[in-house]
Amino acid sequence: MNNSFITYCEINLDSIIHNLKWVKNRVGEKVKICFAGTKADGYGYGIYEVAIAAIESKVVDYLGVAIPDEGIYLRKKGINIPIIVFGNILPEFAEKIVDYDLTQTVCTYDLCEKLSYYAKNKNKPVKIHIKVDTGMGRIGVFPEDSLEFIKKVSKLPNLKIEGIYSHLSSVGRDDEFTKEQINKFFTVLKILENNNIKIPLKHLANSASIKKLPETYLDMVRPGSIIFNADLPELKQVFSLKSKVVYVKKVPKGYRIGYRGSFITKKETKIATVGLGYIDGYPFLLGNEKWKVIINDKYFPVVGRVCMDQIMVDVGNEDVKIGDEVIIIGKSKNCEIKINDIFKELDFYNFLAPSINKRVSRIYIKDGRIYKTKTMLEEISGRNRN
Ligand SMILES: Cc1ncc(COP(=O)(O)O)c(C=O)c1O
Repeated sequence: MNNSFITYCEINLDSIIHNLKWVKNRVGEKVKICFAGTKADGYGYGIYEVAIAAIESKVVDYLGVAIPDEGIYLRKKGINIPIIVFGNILPEFAEKIVDYDLTQTVCTYDLCEKLSYYAKNKNKPVKIHIKVDTGMGRIGVFPEDSLEFIKKVSKLPNLKIEGIYSHLSSVGRDDEFTKEQINKFFTVLKILENNNIKIPLKHLANSASIKKLPETYLDMVRPGSIIFNADLPELKQVFSLKSKVVYVKKVPKGYRIGYRGSFITKKETKIATVGLGYIDGYPFLLGNEKWKVIINDKYFPVVGRVCMDQIMVDVGNEDVKIGDEVIIIGKSKNCEIKINDIFKELDFYNFLAPSINKRVSRIYIKDGRIYKTKTMLEEISGRNRN
């Protein structure tokens, strides 16, 4: 793409839609989708844009957010599909949950009481999903306390128990423990059934479970990272990060490059300086010849320590010029660096997007063309949308 930005990222909303449809196809017609990818500012990709893509996919029944403010933000932007707040919240926020028709995760009686109080006052229902801690050790009631908890909160007026769920901590890492978690959740469901308590939405599966454990699909699945990281061949890459060569010069053998001179040229070579660094989200650990970038459809090593806002690349004798595109994550004709390659190299599964500095312009692609550009200075709409 030809543009005047030094460093920018592209977020492909078409790929998000494709990946969500893939999940739907995998889990089947009867299983609902709660898109957890709107959580935490859309995993850093932009909550509103990501939500719009999810809705346009037409396969998403619920959006998942982490905190009430994210849900309120989406409501204020006109999004009216069901939104579940995954995080536990302080009872002080209960009124907002009712006002903005959000669905709240609950695991304390205090919160349920407050939700019920405001819902009754405003003469409307409020939906809750009970969170059971089967081994994540985060939020949730213990499985053995679930029945009593549910019986107690079900007496509160205007409170509708729409869902019950748990979160798996170790899918693909510890099969034994995962089996234990699943069994604990299934035992809770069985106890509810034996007590004739019917809860419409029972859910358990996050991304790893969608890939590996069909028995966890139940009534609804909650995909998040699978949509953005696209680590299966059937999925499309969502994110690319690009920069430009801002300076290039020939240096002699024995020349020190970067802080602490951790790289010393072994022969005469050309060093290209690229306009992004760790402050922009480029991982600090990927300097010192541990990683590569793509320039003019060839891979070149990143040399020296990663600076705050620049990296240096050894381009040998290649004809690399100021202004040439540098692909950090993305694809050229013959080369590709996927976001997942970076996670593998770091041996650290994480999300890069949240670390991308706001000075890095964001270009959203939809229907194969620019839908919106967000820069530090302004937000510009594309041709096909506001
Ligand atoms: C309750 C809940 N469900 C699902 C997800 C999605 O997880 P993943 O990104 O592993 O799919 C999250 C994300 O943190 C979550 O908090």
